Amino acid sequence: MKKILFCLSIFFLATKLFSQPFSLPKLKYDYTSYAPQIDALTMEIHHSKHHQAYVNNLNKAIVGTRMESQSLMDLLFYAGFRSDVVRNNAGGHYNHTLFWEILAPPVAHSEISQELSNAITNDFKSIDSLKKVLLNAASSRFGSGWAWLVLSPEKKLIVTSTPNQDNPIMDVVTERGIPIVAIDVWEHAYYLNYQNKRMDYLNAVWSLIDWGIVSTKYNAAIGDSLLIELEKDNWPAMKDFHKVMAQTFHPSENGDLSPIRARSGEFLAKAILLTGSNPPKSLKTEGVHEGLLKLENKCAEINTLVKKGAKDKVLIKKMEESHDLFHLVQGLCHD
Ligand SMILES: [Fe+2]
Repeated sequence: MKKILFCLSIFFLATKLFSQPFSLPKLKYDYTSYAPQIDALTMEIHHSKHHQAYVNNLNKAIVGTRMESQSLMDLLFYAGFRSDVVRNNAGGHYNHTLFWEILAPPVAHSEISQELSNAITNDFKSIDSLKKVLLNAASSRFGSGWAWLVLSPEKKLIVTSTPNQDNPIMDVVTERGIPIVAIDVWEHAYYLNYQNKRMDYLNAVWSLIDWGIVSTKYNAAIGDSLLIELEKDNWPAMKDFHKVMAQTFHPSENGDLSPIRARSGEFLAKAILLTGSNPPKSLKTEGVHEGLLKLENKCAEINTLVKKGAKDKVLIKKMEESHDLFHLVQGLCHD
């Protein structure tokens, strides 16, 4: 029995040590199935080399850190607080996953839903004008990047474009929302077959988009609580406060009090600005102002303690309390 338990514990330990948080998704079709729009070799290199490299580099960057237990959405949402390696590779993994999901050989395409069709008519007049706007965003993206069809927090469809591996979920972009169509405009996506003719590649990719799958993504996005999170992040005073909180609280969790000792005045100033600001109209506001006042008082206590040269232990406790209060206020804004 002891032997079995020992073997089991070794097995679980090995699984833990060698498990990788993220993995390369399988494609629904063979590499050859996307031709002639995208040739098999481009698909194979793009998926098995480029996308695989983003996955590998992301796993390598987060192993042994707090990020290891966080979701891909969390990594993306707060990309501005992450290192460039995490931002680029988390983006690379998410963006390519969506790109593969919405592409299919034309013979396998499913029908667009009435809901998505109506939304496109409302926001772009027709699918043809959406095509023009989207492909124009993709063709005019300077250098490497992506073009997107996005559901905004106001539940409008918008077209955007981002550089490198950024995407509309990230806090580093101005027009945020949930992407339902992704178009890769890195040269690795088309250079073998199309060389410098990006527009030819874009027209070919457009014909591979399965609007039935995009319709499913649209329905999911409409009911996704991420839209509320994005709306909340549209609250500049909240965002400013959060930034200082993250840059001072997280080091304090690891016993480093130097950031809060240097910035307690700024921490309090951001809390005061937050209390005096107006939350976005779409958020629930019941109890929020009272919560913000408590948070401001906590930040004032921290500032006083720093000025008095309080011990680390005392400051850590107060930082934890302010962090809990911050999340309590954020939680109040939920539906
Ligand atoms: Fe790519």
